[in-house]
Amino acid sequence: MKQPQLSEAHHPRPQWKSRMGFILAALGSAVGLGNIWRFSYLCYKNGGGAFLVPYLIALFVVGIPLMILELGIGHRMRGSAPMTFAKVNRNWEWCGWWAVICAMFGIMLYYSTVISWCFNYVFFSFDLRWGIDANHFFFQEFLKISSGPGEIGDIISPIVLGLIGVWAFSWLIVFFGVQKGVERANKIFMPLLLVLTIVLVVLSVRLEGAMEGIKVYLTPNFDLLTKKQVWIDAFSQIFFTLSLSFGIMITYASYLPRKVNIVKDAYIISLGNCLFSFISGFAVFGTLGYMSHATGKPVSEVVSQAIGLAFVTYPQAISLMPKMFCNFFGVLFFGSLVVAGLSSAVSLIEAFSSAVIDKFHYPRKVVVSVVCIAGFFGSIIFTSQSGLFWIDIVDHFINQYGLILVGIFQCILLGWIFKLSKLREHINHAGGIVLRRWWEVCIKFVTPIVLILLFINNLQKELSSPYEGYPWEAIILIGRDWLIVALIAALFVAMRPWKRELVDQSEH
Ligand code: PHE
Repeated sequence: MKQPQLSEAHHPRPQWKSRMGFILAALGSAVGLGNIWRFSYLCYKNGGGAFLVPYLIALFVVGIPLMILELGIGHRMRGSAPMTFAKVNRNWEWCGWWAVICAMFGIMLYYSTVISWCFNYVFFSFDLRWGIDANHFFFQEFLKISSGPGEIGDIISPIVLGLIGVWAFSWLIVFFGVQKGVERANKIFMPLLLVLTIVLVVLSVRLEGAMEGIKVYLTPNFDLLTKKQVWIDAFSQIFFTLSLSFGIMITYASYLPRKVNIVKDAYIISLGNCLFSFISGFAVFGTLGYMSHATGKPVSEVVSQAIGLAFVTYPQAISLMPKMFCNFFGVLFFGSLVVAGLSSAVSLIEAFSSAVIDKFHYPRKVVVSVVCIAGFFGSIIFTSQSGLFWIDIVDHFINQYGLILVGIFQCILLGWIFKLSKLREHINHAGGIVLRRWWEVCIKFVTPIVLILLFINNLQKELSSPYEGYPWEAIILIGRDWLIVALIAALFVAMRPWKRELVDQSEH
């Protein structure tokens, strides 16, 4: 293995203090808002316990192989996504930039706004501010929702205030660097989240009627497995939930010491994340079961989708709970969403900042400050009365197209242009569980084929009717124009010279 590069000798790359610190940070990125409400809903919609079959297949066919790939290449090249891609092949640097730009100026901008909602709801839990009509409260009083994406309306001040908190807090963490900031924060966040979740699960499953909800959550309906959409949902969810293709895992692995156990860590992170989703499903469905018991409606009627589940159904359930206990329950639920969201937000900012630092060698503190200020102003559009519509549209396009495309390119570049067997050798050389040939087959054939099929299918559906019936102008603005502008920006930055010469390690 090649010795540290010249430039590294002058500017040593930051490193995690401990293996545990790295695993917690990677888990912190993976476990996010999506684990708590999205997984449970998908599970319920797609055949309950039977959904675990496509979900686990997706995890093993796409999730874990890609996780090993990202950790392995980040560790080998010791760089953020653009630096890693550039070291493999100079012509592909843009792809790394595209990934981190999509993550930072796509996902992070709306993700921070949703964390701000959760933050507001922590406070609303103290006096059950949503009153008797949680639906009306959320859409009309809190979001003051406009008639459509075209009618921007006013900025909502409580959301902006929460947003300031989210950005300031994330800034503080990333500002202090890998060890003193990201690692230390996750060492607090992750155990805290675990405790919050366990308390929530224990409280939920003991509620009256909870078992009915859990039965609905897990009763397998194998007939649904013949439906294409069930498989598409499973594969898309795995991608998003493991934070793959955002350049995050590559960056986090670049801070690892030379001797590591990449395969084992990839298993721990991927399985840990999915186990977390599965367990928090008990809290969600236990509560829904309670609600159905309290209102006399069947569980299938009280369940609702993602955002509706967290901000409408859950508050409704909280209001039905015994006094004293209900406020605590609300703070617990929304508090855990804030913690899960923040640790993911930190990873998005770190992946982008690290890329800029690698390329231009500006000081970390300056880069992080500028990125966070720009990010905060960028998020403001999502705090307007039309924010919810834009969040929905941006989320859809970045996840369904931007990331799947990056995933496909990643497999082509590393599977076909780079010698994959060398990367496997490197991973095995670094220590731990031996990685066998099956992995190469996955990265070269199985994963890209699955992703390409997914992409084609999404595109077909897209062109047949506008997403969720939104006006075509809004869809074109995000689905085409925004992704193209991000691509041009990525190409532009990739064409700028590197402050220090890159040492191409791929030949060694
Ligand atoms: N994995 C996070 C979730 O499940 C989403 C996320 C993706 C966050 C990428 C950060 C980066 O919510």
